[in-house]
Amino acid sequence: MSTLQNKRILLGITGSIAAYKSAELCRLLIKAGAEVRVVLTESARMFITPMTMQALSGNRVHTELLDVEAEAGMGHIALARWADLIVVAPASANFLARLLHGEADDLLTTLCLARRSELALAPAMNQAMWSNSSTRQNVERLSQMAVHIWGPGNGEQACGDEGVGRMLEPEELLGLCAAQFESGLLAGKTVTITAGPTREAIDPVRYISNHSSGKMGYALAEAAVEAGAKVTLISGPVSIPVPQRLHCVQVESAQQMLQACREHPADIFIGVAAVADYRPEQAAAQKIKKDADYMEIRLVRNPDILASIATGASRPFCVGFAAETENLEANALHKLEHKNLDMIVANDASATFGSDEASATVYWAGGNQVLEPHSKAGLTREIIRLIAERLKSA
Ligand code: CTP
Repeated sequence: MSTLQNKRILLGITGSIAAYKSAELCRLLIKAGAEVRVVLTESARMFITPMTMQALSGNRVHTELLDVEAEAGMGHIALARWADLIVVAPASANFLARLLHGEADDLLTTLCLARRSELALAPAMNQAMWSNSSTRQNVERLSQMAVHIWGPGNGEQACGDEGVGRMLEPEELLGLCAAQFESGLLAGKTVTITAGPTREAIDPVRYISNHSSGKMGYALAEAAVEAGAKVTLISGPVSIPVPQRLHCVQVESAQQMLQACREHPADIFIGVAAVADYRPEQAAAQKIKKDADYMEIRLVRNPDILASIATGASRPFCVGFAAETENLEANALHKLEHKNLDMIVANDASATFGSDEASATVYWAGGNQVLEPHSKAGLTREIIRLIAERLKSA
């Protein structure tokens, strides 16, 4: 279930006896590598305690809409932005009705209104309530609003009835959560991605580098895997684990990175690495001693990896990143043209390096799209969607 690795799941629990199964769902999500935050409605707290869900999720449970302390930390809008997926399990008949009418009088309905992510509901109720025409109409209209309805299942109910209305089992819901992150948009495509910084040796113990964490490149590689691509990640030295289901080549210098990129041709090339523009002309063979008061290191230009891959007749679809501190649009468009790219993702370097949140504007010849602040996983899925779209129309 590696698609859930590092995904941010907001688990909403409403008032239904099936709430006890949500404890298991939470545990399974955590085990699959997801980060889980739980929101309990007032009636959910009649069935399961915040303490149980806090212990299982490892995070403070959210219950109140207007809680001064919560708003000072992760308030309702921040929480809605945080989520890569909102799952309400169990979703009671009352919750379905309130959601449909856009009510925002408690934390969970408000989060659903403010969401940027997909929303899935796992209904749980008595079979007569499920088959009642009001519920049927509510479910029908929620589906038309692109809300996912997962279940309910058929079988014995807590009230003694038999029929449709049981919440799906935690294992089934876990599978559905994982499937949300599999798009198939790049099925059959090969993708090579560079990530992280490069290190340019001064001597055997010293180097020139930069603050790139590699998070964006790694998140993009995961998003490409989830979109069905065969991915090679060419990474400079970073301290994050290598995602599963891809081929990772570890390099240090820009020259090694270029060499590895040439050895891994692909349909799509995405340059996310913060490649050092210069390297010491000569790396000293031995550790340099501090004899002199001044020291000069002559630097020479490194190859531009992205621009070299984007040259030639059988060039891949090339995507660059422009991390800028000023004149974002002008600099990004300049790089798009001068590096002969198909697309460039521009963002504010000071807000991006090392951060977990990111926003960006994507430019291509004759168009652009602003991507709102999101988790890196959410943002990279949007970038992959745009790449798949542009590739289709190329
Ligand atoms: N890039 C590259 N090789 C380099 C420098 C940059 O492949 N030697 C790629 C980066 O991975 C990124 C894009 O080019 O996708 C833009 O990188 P950036 O550092 O923003 O631009 P530079 O070309 O280095 O220009 P400058 O530093 O002058 O802004």
